[in-house]
Amino acid sequence: VSATQPLQAPKGTRDFYPEEMRLQNYLFDAWRKACLDFGFEEYEGPTFEHLELFTEKSGREIVTQLYNFKDKGDRDLALRPEMTPTLARMVNQKGNSLKLPLRWFSVPRLFRYEKAQRGRLREFFQLNMDILGCEGVAAEVELLSAIIEMLKGLGLKGSDFAVHISSRKLLSDFLDSEGIAADKKPTVYAALDKRAKLGESEFRVLLQKEGLEIKSIDAIETFFQCKDLASVLTAISDNGTNASNDSNGLVASNGSNGYQELAKLFQFMTDIGYGDFIKLDLSVVRGLAYYTGIVFEVYDREKSLRAIAGGGRYDNLLANLGGHSMTGVGFGMGDVVLYEFLKDKNLLPSGRTGLDYYLLDVAPGEDKMPNVNLIQLAQGLRAKGKRVGYSLSGEKFKKQIGQANDQGAKRVLFFGSDKAAAGSFEIKDMTTGEQKILVTEEL
Ligand code: HAM
Repeated sequence: VSATQPLQAPKGTRDFYPEEMRLQNYLFDAWRKACLDFGFEEYEGPTFEHLELFTEKSGREIVTQLYNFKDKGDRDLALRPEMTPTLARMVNQKGNSLKLPLRWFSVPRLFRYEKAQRGRLREFFQLNMDILGCEGVAAEVELLSAIIEMLKGLGLKGSDFAVHISSRKLLSDFLDSEGIAADKKPTVYAALDKRAKLGESEFRVLLQKEGLEIKSIDAIETFFQCKDLASVLTAISDNGTNASNDSNGLVASNGSNGYQELAKLFQFMTDIGYGDFIKLDLSVVRGLAYYTGIVFEVYDREKSLRAIAGGGRYDNLLANLGGHSMTGVGFGMGDVVLYEFLKDKNLLPSGRTGLDYYLLDVAPGEDKMPNVNLIQLAQGLRAKGKRVGYSLSGEKFKKQIGQANDQGAKRVLFFGSDKAAAGSFEIKDMTTGEQKILVTEEL
């Protein structure tokens, strides 16, 4: 770093100048509103945790992305790459004293050592909504409804985005019925996760290398192509017929439990009018290791961006972290991709909220200080909840007008105008240009 060059922010981080901060507040307000409308309560945890909280349960990918370090007491710590382990730890710590089900949300600042690219940074924010202690798909229905409503609240339509839904349970049941060993499943999941990128032939080669038989690969390929529940049912029924001697046959178990959960979720979502916002997508597997049931990701319809949000059900995370057995389901929605999406769709607000009044000093004094009566007037207006500004250094009238415009003043007040008698003020509405005299109470 040369002494003459100003330092830059580290790669993958962002500075939030007031202009960016305004957009962040806009987004966070929309997130919070949806969470509160759905009866969720906010929580927060530390930005760094014991390293093992993440290395134990989050899965391989996220561990390679950790910002970890030793502190001065030789403890192994990591900046949080996600919130779910912290949530699990916090709930575990309270044990039985919490009233279930919990509906909690948080907007943590997260850190991942990723290759910085469109939609991916090393420091970002992520809305988390989680429901703990609810077994039924009503929890998934509630979370997906919240996602849909919050995106609608930001001006997005069903033609702009969709929630892609799958189930690890269904996949796992299917792989069982194909006789695929448990230790091969993570590779199959990873391959499925990348299926769209790989293309069919590479996908096949990958699975063959893992020792899967052609017959199984064919079955996985057919299964993966299913675009609706009816074809899933056919695929798993065929499978059950083929494997009729197999005690794992999906049909023998009256359809997989995973299938039934999915079917129930789709039915509910359709019944409450959200059918157009969801679609079955068996390629959604999710990178994190702890999911056990329904999983989902939100994408723009063109799929030109990375996932806007992702989540699912995790049955064992809390127990695996040393707590009671408790099921949870939740999602994370990052701010980075959402900004890109809203920008592409021209849905970001422009301009600042602005002042209600800018107090123009018509005859500023020589001492470069605002008039004390003008400050008192500002005090009174602020006490009434108005946003008020004025020149701090008694600048020339023209400069004050410039400031009023820069600060987005809705109205200016001509302090000391000879058009207004004592106890009244000359006001100009900056949008309509209308001018009038108001007495103090009317202000
Ligand atoms: P995730 O899929 O790792 O899930 O992240 C969820 C969302 O966070 C992504 O869809 C994306 O919008 C955003 N995101 C992730 N990494 C980055 C990054 N490097 N830069 C910008 N945005 C990013 C989780 O984190 C789970 N813990 C979510 C969850 C909550 N599951 C259950 N409860």
